[in-house]
Amino acid sequence: MTPPDPYLRQDWQMVRGVPMVCAFSFDWDRIDNFQSRPDDILISTYPKSGTTWMCEIVDMILHDGDAEKCKRDAIFNKVPMLEFAAPGKMPSGTEQLASMPSPRVVKTHLPVNLLPKSCWDNKCKTIYVARNAKDVAVSFYHFDLMNKLHPEPGTWDEYLEKFMAGKIAFGSWYDHVSSWWEKRNDQPLLYLFYEDMKEDLKREIKKVVHFLGKDLPDSVVDKIVCNTSFDMMKDNPATNYRMAPAAVMDQSISPFMRKGIAGDWKNYFTVAQNEKFDEDYKRKMADTTLQFRTEI
Ligand code: A3P
Repeated sequence: MTPPDPYLRQDWQMVRGVPMVCAFSFDWDRIDNFQSRPDDILISTYPKSGTTWMCEIVDMILHDGDAEKCKRDAIFNKVPMLEFAAPGKMPSGTEQLASMPSPRVVKTHLPVNLLPKSCWDNKCKTIYVARNAKDVAVSFYHFDLMNKLHPEPGTWDEYLEKFMAGKIAFGSWYDHVSSWWEKRNDQPLLYLFYEDMKEDLKREIKKVVHFLGKDLPDSVVDKIVCNTSFDMMKDNPATNYRMAPAAVMDQSISPFMRKGIAGDWKNYFTVAQNEKFDEDYKRKMADTTLQFRTEI
Protein backbone atom coordinates (compact mmCIF):
# COMPACT_ATOMS: atom_id res chain seq x y z
CA MET A 1 0.00 0.00 0.00
CA THR A 2 1.34 3.47 -0.80
CA PRO A 3 1.51 5.74 2.24
CA PRO A 4 -0.83 8.77 2.22
CA ASP A 5 0.72 11.82 0.63
CA PRO A 6 1.94 14.14 3.38
CA TYR A 7 0.73 17.29 1.61
CA LEU A 8 -2.45 16.48 -0.28
CA ARG A 9 -5.72 17.64 1.30
CA GLN A 10 -4.00 18.54 4.56
CA ASP A 11 -5.38 21.19 6.89
CA TRP A 12 -3.84 24.67 6.97
CA GLN A 13 -0.80 25.13 9.22
CA MET A 14 -0.56 28.39 11.14
CA VAL A 15 2.46 30.59 10.38
CA ARG A 16 2.53 33.57 12.79
CA GLY A 17 -1.23 33.61 13.00
CA VAL A 18 -1.80 33.16 9.25
CA PRO A 19 -3.32 29.92 7.89
CA MET A 20 -0.79 28.58 5.39
CA VAL A 21 -0.88 25.81 2.79
CA CYS A 22 0.54 22.80 4.67
CA ALA A 23 3.20 22.03 2.04
CA PHE A 24 4.46 25.64 2.17
CA SER A 25 4.57 25.90 5.95
CA PHE A 26 7.78 23.96 6.69
CA ASP A 27 11.20 25.55 7.16
CA TRP A 28 9.83 29.10 7.23
CA ASP A 29 13.43 30.34 7.66
CA ARG A 30 13.76 30.00 3.90
CA ILE A 31 11.20 32.82 3.57
CA ASP A 32 12.48 34.97 6.42
CA ASN A 33 16.03 34.70 5.07
CA PHE A 34 15.11 35.18 1.41
CA GLN A 35 17.58 37.57 -0.25
CA SER A 36 15.81 39.89 -2.62
CA ARG A 37 17.69 41.84 -5.28
CA PRO A 38 17.09 45.57 -5.77
CA ASP A 39 15.83 44.96 -9.32
CA ASP A 40 13.39 42.20 -8.37
CA ILE A 41 9.82 42.92 -9.44
CA LEU A 42 7.26 41.60 -6.98
CA ILE A 43 3.74 40.68 -8.00
CA SER A 44 1.74 40.49 -4.83
CA THR A 45 -1.90 39.48 -4.54
CA TYR A 46 -4.42 37.76 -2.38
CA PRO A 47 -5.03 34.42 -4.18
CA LYS A 48 -7.49 34.41 -7.10
CA SER A 49 -7.19 38.12 -7.79
CA GLY A 50 -5.57 37.97 -11.22
CA THR A 51 -2.02 36.98 -10.22
CA THR A 52 -1.37 34.80 -13.27
CA TRP A 53 -2.80 37.49 -15.52
CA MET A 54 -0.42 40.14 -14.10
CA CYS A 55 2.55 37.71 -14.16
CA GLU A 56 2.04 37.14 -17.89
CA ILE A 57 1.56 40.86 -18.53
CA VAL A 58 4.84 41.71 -16.77
CA ASP A 59 6.71 38.92 -18.57
CA MET A 60 5.39 40.26 -21.90
CA ILE A 61 6.38 43.83 -21.01
CA LEU A 62 9.91 42.69 -20.13
CA HIS A 63 10.08 40.82 -23.45
CA ASP A 64 8.72 43.73 -25.51
CA GLY A 65 5.53 41.85 -26.38
CA ASP A 66 7.31 38.89 -28.01
CA ALA A 67 4.63 36.18 -27.65
CA GLU A 68 6.93 33.36 -28.75
CA LYS A 69 9.60 34.21 -26.15
CA CYS A 70 6.87 34.32 -23.52
CA LYS A 71 5.93 30.72 -24.36
CA ARG A 72 9.45 29.56 -23.33
CA ASP A 73 8.16 27.97 -20.09
CA ALA A 74 5.16 27.62 -17.80
CA ILE A 75 4.14 30.72 -15.93
CA PHE A 76 4.98 29.10 -12.56
CA ASN A 77 8.59 28.65 -13.73
CA LYS A 78 8.95 32.04 -15.42
CA VAL A 79 7.55 33.75 -12.33
CA PRO A 80 8.21 31.51 -9.31
CA MET A 81 6.01 31.79 -6.25
CA LEU A 82 8.22 32.83 -3.35
CA GLU A 83 6.50 30.72 -0.69
CA PHE A 84 5.86 27.63 -2.85
CA ALA A 85 7.22 24.34 -1.51
CA ALA A 86 6.47 20.65 -1.92
CA PRO A 87 9.46 19.11 -0.11
CA GLY A 88 10.91 16.08 -1.85
CA LYS A 89 8.77 16.58 -4.94
CA MET A 90 9.58 19.87 -6.64
CA PRO A 91 12.10 22.69 -6.13
CA SER A 92 10.79 25.35 -3.77
CA GLY A 93 10.14 28.91 -4.90
CA THR A 94 13.24 30.16 -3.11
CA GLU A 95 15.37 27.47 -4.81
CA GLN A 96 13.97 28.39 -8.23
CA LEU A 97 14.59 32.09 -7.57
CA ALA A 98 18.17 31.58 -6.35
CA SER A 99 19.22 30.28 -9.77
CA MET A 100 17.38 32.88 -11.86
CA PRO A 101 19.15 35.73 -13.65
CA SER A 102 18.07 39.30 -12.91
CA PRO A 103 15.69 40.95 -13.29
CA ARG A 104 13.57 38.34 -11.53
CA VAL A 105 9.80 38.54 -11.37
CA VAL A 106 8.60 37.12 -8.07
CA LYS A 107 5.03 36.11 -7.30
CA THR A 108 3.75 36.12 -3.75
CA HIS A 109 0.49 35.87 -1.84
CA LEU A 110 2.11 36.69 1.48
CA PRO A 111 0.38 39.22 3.71
CA VAL A 112 2.43 42.28 4.66
CA ASN A 113 3.55 40.81 8.00
CA LEU A 114 5.05 37.69 6.36
CA LEU A 115 6.91 39.34 3.46
CA PRO A 116 10.69 38.83 3.90
CA LYS A 117 12.46 41.86 5.40
CA SER A 118 14.89 41.97 2.46
CA CYS A 119 12.06 42.90 0.04
CA TRP A 120 11.23 45.98 2.12
CA ASP A 121 14.91 46.85 2.68
CA ASN A 122 15.65 46.73 -1.03
CA LYS A 123 12.47 48.66 -1.82
CA CYS A 124 11.68 46.19 -4.59
CA LYS A 125 9.12 47.49 -7.08
CA THR A 126 5.82 45.81 -6.25
CA ILE A 127 2.64 45.47 -8.27
CA TYR A 128 -0.34 44.59 -6.09
CA VAL A 129 -3.52 43.38 -7.80
CA ALA A 130 -6.72 43.38 -5.77
CA ARG A 131 -10.11 41.93 -6.75
CA ASN A 132 -13.47 42.36 -5.08
CA ALA A 133 -14.07 39.98 -2.18
CA LYS A 134 -17.19 38.32 -3.56
CA ASP A 135 -15.58 37.21 -6.83
CA VAL A 136 -12.43 36.17 -4.95
CA ALA A 137 -14.53 33.97 -2.65
CA VAL A 138 -16.23 32.25 -5.61
CA SER A 139 -12.96 31.78 -7.48
CA PHE A 140 -11.12 30.53 -4.37
CA TYR A 141 -13.92 28.05 -3.62
CA HIS A 142 -13.54 26.50 -7.07
CA PHE A 143 -9.76 26.54 -6.70
CA ASP A 144 -9.97 24.66 -3.39
CA LEU A 145 -12.18 22.07 -5.06
CA MET A 146 -9.51 21.32 -7.68
CA ASN A 147 -6.22 22.12 -5.90
CA LYS A 148 -5.29 19.20 -3.69
CA LEU A 149 -2.60 21.10 -1.79
CA HIS A 150 -5.59 22.72 -0.04
CA PRO A 151 -8.10 21.00 2.23
CA GLU A 152 -11.57 20.29 0.79
CA PRO A 153 -13.60 23.51 0.95
CA GLY A 154 -16.88 21.88 2.09
CA THR A 155 -20.17 23.26 0.79
CA TRP A 156 -20.32 26.76 -0.69
CA ASP A 157 -22.19 27.98 2.39
CA GLU A 158 -19.56 26.52 4.74
CA TYR A 159 -16.80 27.94 2.60
CA LEU A 160 -18.25 31.46 2.63
CA GLU A 161 -18.27 31.40 6.43
CA LYS A 162 -14.58 30.38 6.40
CA PHE A 163 -13.83 33.17 3.92
CA MET A 164 -15.44 35.77 6.18
CA ALA A 165 -13.54 34.38 9.19
CA GLY A 166 -10.21 34.38 7.31
CA LYS A 167 -9.85 30.62 7.88
CA ILE A 168 -8.46 29.99 4.42
CA ALA A 169 -5.02 30.03 2.81
CA PHE A 170 -3.13 33.30 3.44
CA GLY A 171 -5.71 34.39 6.00
CA SER A 172 -8.11 37.30 5.90
CA TRP A 173 -8.80 38.90 2.50
CA TYR A 174 -9.89 42.04 4.36
CA ASP A 175 -6.56 42.39 6.22
CA HIS A 176 -4.52 41.49 3.12
CA VAL A 177 -5.96 44.06 0.72
CA SER A 178 -6.10 46.85 3.30
CA SER A 179 -2.63 46.39 4.78
CA TRP A 180 -1.04 46.26 1.32
CA TRP A 181 -3.07 49.40 0.45
CA GLU A 182 -1.37 51.22 3.35
CA LYS A 183 2.07 50.11 2.10
CA ARG A 184 1.68 52.15 -1.10
CA ASN A 185 2.56 55.20 1.03
CA ASP A 186 6.10 54.12 1.85
CA GLN A 187 7.08 51.61 -0.86
CA PRO A 188 7.36 51.75 -4.66
CA LEU A 189 4.00 50.03 -5.02
CA LEU A 190 1.52 50.11 -7.89
CA TYR A 191 -1.91 49.09 -6.57
CA LEU A 192 -4.22 47.87 -9.32
CA PHE A 193 -7.70 46.35 -9.49
CA TYR A 194 -8.88 43.29 -11.41
CA GLU A 195 -12.11 45.11 -12.29
CA ASP A 196 -10.16 48.01 -13.84
CA MET A 197 -8.18 45.49 -15.91
CA LYS A 198 -11.43 43.96 -17.13
CA GLU A 199 -12.77 47.42 -17.95
CA ASP A 200 -9.78 48.74 -19.88
CA LEU A 201 -6.80 46.42 -20.09
CA LYS A 202 -4.74 48.73 -22.29
CA ARG A 203 -5.05 51.60 -19.80
CA GLU A 204 -3.93 49.36 -16.91
CA ILE A 205 -1.05 47.78 -18.88
CA LYS A 206 0.22 51.28 -19.68
CA LYS A 207 0.33 52.01 -15.95
CA VAL A 208 2.52 48.91 -15.46
CA VAL A 209 4.79 49.84 -18.38
CA HIS A 210 5.29 53.30 -16.89
CA PHE A 211 5.83 51.93 -13.35
CA LEU A 212 8.53 49.56 -14.64
CA GLY A 213 10.28 52.46 -16.38
CA LYS A 214 9.75 51.01 -19.85
CA ASP A 215 8.78 52.85 -22.97
CA LEU A 216 6.83 50.68 -25.39
CA PRO A 217 5.19 51.79 -28.63
CA ASP A 218 1.41 51.57 -28.78
CA SER A 219 1.59 48.70 -31.26
CA VAL A 220 3.50 46.58 -28.70
CA VAL A 221 1.03 47.43 -25.93
CA ASP A 222 -1.79 46.38 -28.28
CA LYS A 223 -0.02 43.05 -28.84
CA ILE A 224 0.25 42.52 -25.09
CA VAL A 225 -3.45 43.32 -24.64
CA CYS A 226 -4.31 40.75 -27.30
CA ASN A 227 -2.02 38.00 -25.93
CA THR A 228 -3.17 38.43 -22.33
CA SER A 229 -6.91 38.26 -23.04
CA PHE A 230 -8.73 35.55 -21.09
CA ASP A 231 -9.34 33.45 -24.23
CA MET A 232 -5.69 33.60 -25.32
CA MET A 233 -4.40 32.72 -21.86
CA LYS A 234 -6.93 29.91 -21.49
CA ASP A 235 -5.64 28.33 -24.72
CA ASN A 236 -1.97 28.94 -23.96
CA PRO A 237 -0.32 25.88 -22.30
CA ALA A 238 2.25 28.18 -20.68
CA THR A 239 -0.45 30.11 -18.81
CA ASN A 240 -3.40 27.73 -18.31
CA TYR A 241 -1.63 25.51 -15.73
CA ARG A 242 -2.01 22.40 -17.91
CA MET A 243 1.73 21.90 -17.27
CA ALA A 244 1.08 21.55 -13.52
CA PRO A 245 0.77 17.95 -12.27
CA ALA A 246 -2.83 16.73 -12.57
CA ALA A 247 -2.44 14.89 -9.25
CA VAL A 248 -2.24 18.31 -7.62
CA MET A 249 -4.48 20.43 -9.83
CA ASP A 250 -7.40 18.43 -11.18
CA GLN A 251 -8.74 20.66 -13.93
CA SER A 252 -11.49 18.16 -14.72
CA ILE A 253 -13.12 19.41 -11.48
CA SER A 254 -12.68 23.10 -12.31
CA PRO A 255 -10.34 24.67 -14.86
CA PHE A 256 -7.69 27.07 -13.60
CA MET A 257 -8.85 29.56 -16.24
CA ARG A 258 -12.43 29.28 -15.06
CA LYS A 259 -14.55 32.27 -16.20
CA GLY A 260 -12.41 35.37 -15.91
CA ILE A 261 -15.25 37.84 -15.37
CA ALA A 262 -16.31 40.46 -12.84
CA GLY A 263 -19.61 39.80 -11.09
CA ASP A 264 -19.73 35.99 -11.22
CA TRP A 265 -20.59 36.08 -7.48
CA LYS A 266 -24.20 36.82 -8.45
CA ASN A 267 -24.44 33.25 -9.72
CA TYR A 268 -23.46 31.83 -6.30
CA PHE A 269 -24.50 34.15 -3.45
CA THR A 270 -28.04 33.70 -2.18
CA VAL A 271 -29.90 36.85 -1.09
CA ALA A 272 -29.37 35.86 2.56
CA GLN A 273 -25.65 35.16 2.07
CA ASN A 274 -25.25 38.49 0.29
CA GLU A 275 -26.94 40.47 3.07
CA LYS A 276 -24.83 38.79 5.76
CA PHE A 277 -21.66 39.25 3.73
CA ASP A 278 -22.35 42.97 3.11
CA GLU A 279 -23.01 43.66 6.76
CA ASP A 280 -19.85 41.86 7.86
CA TYR A 281 -17.89 43.60 5.06
CA LYS A 282 -18.91 47.07 6.25
CA ARG A 283 -17.60 46.30 9.72
CA LYS A 284 -14.32 44.79 8.55
CA MET A 285 -13.58 47.51 5.98
CA ALA A 286 -14.74 50.48 8.10
CA ASP A 287 -11.21 51.80 8.71
CA THR A 288 -9.86 51.76 5.15
CA THR A 289 -10.26 54.20 2.26
CA LEU A 290 -9.98 51.26 -0.14
CA GLN A 291 -13.00 50.90 -2.44
CA PHE A 292 -13.98 47.98 -4.68
CA ARG A 293 -16.42 47.50 -7.51
CA THR A 294 -18.31 44.20 -7.47
CA GLU A 295 -19.42 44.59 -11.08
CA ILE A 296 -18.41 46.72 -14.05
P1 A3P B 1 -12.10 32.93 -12.02
O1 A3P B 1 -11.94 31.72 -11.15
O2 A3P B 1 -13.12 33.88 -11.47
O3 A3P B 1 -12.35 32.61 -13.45
P2 A3P B 1 -4.99 33.89 -9.81
O4 A3P B 1 -4.11 33.88 -11.01
O5 A3P B 1 -4.71 34.99 -8.85
O6 A3P B 1 -5.07 32.54 -9.17
O7 A3P B 1 -6.46 34.26 -10.31
C1 A3P B 1 -7.21 33.36 -11.07
C2 A3P B 1 -8.44 34.10 -11.55
O8 A3P B 1 -8.06 35.05 -12.55
C3 A3P B 1 -9.44 33.16 -12.20
O9 A3P B 1 -10.72 33.74 -11.97
C4 A3P B 1 -9.01 33.25 -13.66
O10 A3P B 1 -9.98 32.84 -14.57
C5 A3P B 1 -8.74 34.75 -13.75
N1 A3P B 1 -7.90 35.11 -14.91
C6 A3P B 1 -6.72 34.57 -15.28
N2 A3P B 1 -6.28 35.12 -16.43
C7 A3P B 1 -7.21 36.04 -16.79
C8 A3P B 1 -7.34 36.94 -17.90
N3 A3P B 1 -6.43 36.97 -18.87
N4 A3P B 1 -8.43 37.73 -17.94
C9 A3P B 1 -9.37 37.70 -16.97
N5 A3P B 1 -9.31 36.87 -15.89
C10 A3P B 1 -8.23 36.04 -15.81
